[in-house]
Amino acid sequence: MRIEITRPDDWHLHLRDGDAMKSVLPHSARQFARAIVMPNLDPPVTSVDSAAAYRYRILSAIPPGVAFEPLMTLYLTDDTPPDEIRRAVESGFVRGVKLYPSGVTTQSDAGVTALEKCDAALSEMEKLGMPLLAHGEVRDPGVDVFDRESVFIETVLQPLLERHPALRVALEHITTKDAVDFVLSSGENLAATITAHHLLYNRNAIFEGGLRPHRYCLPLPKREIHRAALLGAATSGNPKFMLGTDSAPHGRRLKEADRGCAGCYTAHAALEFYAEAFESVGAIDRLEAFASFNGPDFYRLPRNTAKIALEKNDWTIPKTFSFGENEILIPLRAGEVLHWKRI
Ligand code: DOR
Ligand code: ZN
Repeated sequence: MRIEITRPDDWHLHLRDGDAMKSVLPHSARQFARAIVMPNLDPPVTSVDSAAAYRYRILSAIPPGVAFEPLMTLYLTDDTPPDEIRRAVESGFVRGVKLYPSGVTTQSDAGVTALEKCDAALSEMEKLGMPLLAHGEVRDPGVDVFDRESVFIETVLQPLLERHPALRVALEHITTKDAVDFVLSSGENLAATITAHHLLYNRNAIFEGGLRPHRYCLPLPKREIHRAALLGAATSGNPKFMLGTDSAPHGRRLKEADRGCAGCYTAHAALEFYAEAFESVGAIDRLEAFASFNGPDFYRLPRNTAKIALEKNDWTIPKTFSFGENEILIPLRAGEVLHWKRI
């Protein structure tokens, strides 16, 4: 079996920087025409100038002959000036502003402590149509880690959309039925990205046969009813749901450690993982809209025109990839057989 689809884009990607970036970028560039690049570097990408410099470093690392366009994001802080939003819109290469509630995940300490502090920047975004890309979790230690997304929706996102009814929001890497239902019941200014790993795994997977650090990511995967709701949403044909891998590489030593880092590395076989998830519910014919149409439509960018093909053909994922000079990366499903292959 073989399918041909319009070349897809990745609407949520961590490329890192320096030599580490050079190791992972070819994987994404091979599959995707464009990617929304997350700004959670150290230091974070908080200005248009630093986004321009980061974009240049990415463009310089693209393998010769490969067409790949990084779409840049700004890291929202309590102090982001509304003027910076205007400059971002005018730049033509900044396509979103990322909300990390302070302390919720990797490199989020400089993130937002209270969204009310960002009101002027958010009003400018609302006025100019610049999307807010939300890591939808609260950090409150009193909230159970598995409830952090649903509490965010109720206590942060809903009030935000009431204050800024025209703000365009991509709720990133959704993990719950609550998020699916909220997105469905909201206006067309609210969309969501869904990762391949949240379509394939529920929370049992993190503990299958022992603790599995390379399956650990944030937001955590949830119960099976939630995974099923995500798969239902992604394969429904509803244009509010789009592909965003959240491929988040960390070197092996930082993953297999006490206080190991959150992030699944999926860029090496992202489309194949999505194809497997879609096929599991007999919806492979819906993959193209999810992967190649819904994202550009939400971001108001042209759809790609080139085509790519996937084929049913068993192959084995490498056990490791190099990651910068001295580290290795353990990809999701390392050493396992996959049935779909990008050709
Ligand atoms: O698992 C995750 N990894 N979730 C995030 O929100 C951040 C990401 C990273 O940058 O490693
Ligand atoms: Zn992410």
